[in-house]
Amino acid sequence: MTYLEIEGVNYLSGNIEISGAKNAALPLIVSSILAKNEVKISNVPNVADIKTLFNLLQNLGAYCEFKNNNAIINTKTLKKTIAKYDIVRKMRASILALGPLLARFGNCEVSLPGGCAIGQRPIDLHLLALEKMGANIQIKQGYVVASGNLKGSEIIFDKITVTGSENIIMAAALAKGKTRLINVAKEPEVIQLCEVLKDSGLEINGIGTDEIEIIGTDRELLEFKDIQVIPDRIEAGTYLCAGAIVNSQISISKSNPSHLSSVLSKLDQMGFKTLIEKDVITLLPAKQIYPIEILTSEYPGFPTDMQAQFMTLALKANGTSIIDERLFENRFMHVSELLRMGADIKLNGHIATVVGGKELNAADVMATDLRASSALILAALAAKGTSRVHRIYHLDRGYENLEEKFKSLGAKITRLEE
Ligand code: UD1
Repeated sequence: MTYLEIEGVNYLSGNIEISGAKNAALPLIVSSILAKNEVKISNVPNVADIKTLFNLLQNLGAYCEFKNNNAIINTKTLKKTIAKYDIVRKMRASILALGPLLARFGNCEVSLPGGCAIGQRPIDLHLLALEKMGANIQIKQGYVVASGNLKGSEIIFDKITVTGSENIIMAAALAKGKTRLINVAKEPEVIQLCEVLKDSGLEINGIGTDEIEIIGTDRELLEFKDIQVIPDRIEAGTYLCAGAIVNSQISISKSNPSHLSSVLSKLDQMGFKTLIEKDVITLLPAKQIYPIEILTSEYPGFPTDMQAQFMTLALKANGTSIIDERLFENRFMHVSELLRMGADIKLNGHIATVVGGKELNAADVMATDLRASSALILAALAAKGTSRVHRIYHLDRGYENLEEKFKSLGAKITRLEE
């Protein structure tokens, strides 16, 4: 199996370009199911999750071409409506196909994604909303079997869900009549999906607020314009944390600083100033690294996808930090690996107490999920000696050209086979 060997302590310098956001590209690619024309999407990150999604669409009969971060998708030839377990199990976000497939064809079967490393991650809110829109939903042999002609309805999400909101927005686009969605996610990735649908002629109001109104087309497909995926705010935040953990000056370009407000504000509280010029963010070294308190929440709050990286950074702070993980019950899998590197972290339910200032030592560590893996790379950069991060297929799901980007910042990082 492939692993990464990283030599620390490794100071960084230079600039890297941020890729397109995986979590924005996924719903945009799926939304091509709603299109009557060929859909062209640029700035698509070349990562494993995106390839899994193309695989899913191709398996359903769609035409997909993906070269140099540009995708062309044509779903005119899409005939099958069964999203198979073999593909869905590789990526939970495949559940995004449920809403658009059902809305366009009136029936579909999508394998239940099952649990994942960071927690149970149910899809009950997706299903409840579709039922409210008139769908008949049954769970048969591990599949969500859905049928019915969707009608506009009023839906109140009990909890804010990102893919749940995206799924139902896409379903409502082709439903008959008006849908009102209340307590919708406001993540930039959700907003981009709404804007793309609006550009393709859909009547949709309240974009960017927690209440959205959509006038469905009653199964008439939409005419999509060309799309450019927004920058990946989590990738951007990860590289900023990498610069911070070795207290170096680095810059990231092709980012969207306005999507990073909560992350930049936490860096500031820790003593790291950032300079912003258009799409370039420069991180300046801190005179002293201060401990922090973090509470993960929905956008525009602090993202759970940045929790592991900031926990690792808190290991360098002068004092004790508190991290409260509110979204996923099992998102502390990186802690036991960080302990192997000499970290002082105590867990009490969803709260982690991180005692900073201890020296980190290199070790063999195991990646457990996408963002936890990047936290281990950051720890390895700051730890004395040679660390090996195993099971890096988790990283390949979401970080484009990870070694090349780290190398261009001066990191001593090599991909090797066991
Ligand atoms: C998305 C992101 C993921 C990020 C997460 C939270 C994608 C592809 N993934 O995941 O990177 O970490 O948002 O920002 O965009 N919930 C329910 N029932 C449901 C749906 C969700 O109880 O039907 C709960 C979840 O267990 C969790 C919370 O709602 O506690 C938020 O989850 P959700 O926003 O749905 O996460 P994802 O969309 O899966």
